[in-house]
Amino acid sequence: MISEKMQATLNRQIELEGYASFLYLAMASWCDSEGLEGCAKFMHRQSAEERDHMLRIFYYISEVDGHAKVPAIDQPPLTFDSIQSLFEQVYAHEQKVTASIHKIVDLANQENDYTTLNFLQWYIEEQREEEALMRTILDRIKLIGGGPMSLYYIDQEIEKINAIEEKAAAAEAEA
Ligand code: FEO
Repeated sequence: MISEKMQATLNRQIELEGYASFLYLAMASWCDSEGLEGCAKFMHRQSAEERDHMLRIFYYISEVDGHAKVPAIDQPPLTFDSIQSLFEQVYAHEQKVTASIHKIVDLANQENDYTTLNFLQWYIEEQREEEALMRTILDRIKLIGGGPMSLYYIDQEIEKINAIEEKAAAAEAEA
């Protein structure tokens, strides 16, 4: 059983992960409307991953005999100034999620809640990977610059990342 405070904190994290899923879905739709198919595919996958992050917490709360609550999700933005601005917003949101996970770790430590501490380890690793991936993408976007073919090259770069991620997911599924 987790404390009431931990339950409320984890329920807030459900909302944050749910918002990430909707934000990335809105980004996927905008990328599609701009003809950026590689970026759209990438954001659809990120959106699905965030739903999984949300559900993992949902199931965890139920497992420890708490009450997981379905949150109201704020309306995410529907349009973005540029693909660079879009990925900057993804990176900023991931940093916010990381900070929030670290706060939950602090609370679990204060409460000697070893079960939740153990549960959170997966999120710590996931956030490290996601932040690193978004920094890599932003670095590549900056390297490509703003030439006439830049959007085409950025989309090609994201397609390469899609191929790597899909291969890794297939290997994980086989393991
Ligand atoms: Fe689940 Fe990317 O934060």
